[in-house]
Amino acid sequence: ALERTFSIIKPDATRRNITGKIIDRIESSGLRVIASKRVHLTREQAEGFYAVHRERPFFGELVDFMISGPVIVQVLEGENAIAKYREVMGATNPADAEPGTIRKDFAESIEANSVHGSDGGDTAPNEIKYFFEDGEIVG
Ligand code: CMP
Repeated sequence: ALERTFSIIKPDATRRNITGKIIDRIESSGLRVIASKRVHLTREQAEGFYAVHRERPFFGELVDFMISGPVIVQVLEGENAIAKYREVMGATNPADAEPGTIRKDFAESIEANSVHGSDGGDTAPNEIKYFFEDGEIVG
């Protein structure tokens, strides 16, 4: 089915000026970028976005990292976009990611792993709404 998923290109990627290389991987996979903006998250925005991880030992460092520089938040659309983007990203830990995935080829570490993507059909719509009004999404 035609789906939408949410993506963040993380601060390690904006810092290294490789956002175009990452967007090329996204578009080459057949996914379409139907909304996009570059933002510097506030601590409150980052904590709210990752609230599900609040009790995890890495939460503080994750939030510090996500506010360490600008990010690009995007809505991606395509057939089975949620699972497709997870394939394109590769495993959370780049050491475990398959060759040819964004994280294998670009990520610096499990924390500075270049991209975030929604993990399922329950989270994708909420993550999209967290950053985008309906009128900002142009499919
Ligand atoms: P992301 O898909 O953005 O969701 C939560 C993030 O926490 C994850 O990608 C990783 O970048 C980050 N993270 C940092 N340490 C860990 C860890 N030990 N296990 C899982 N995720 C981690």
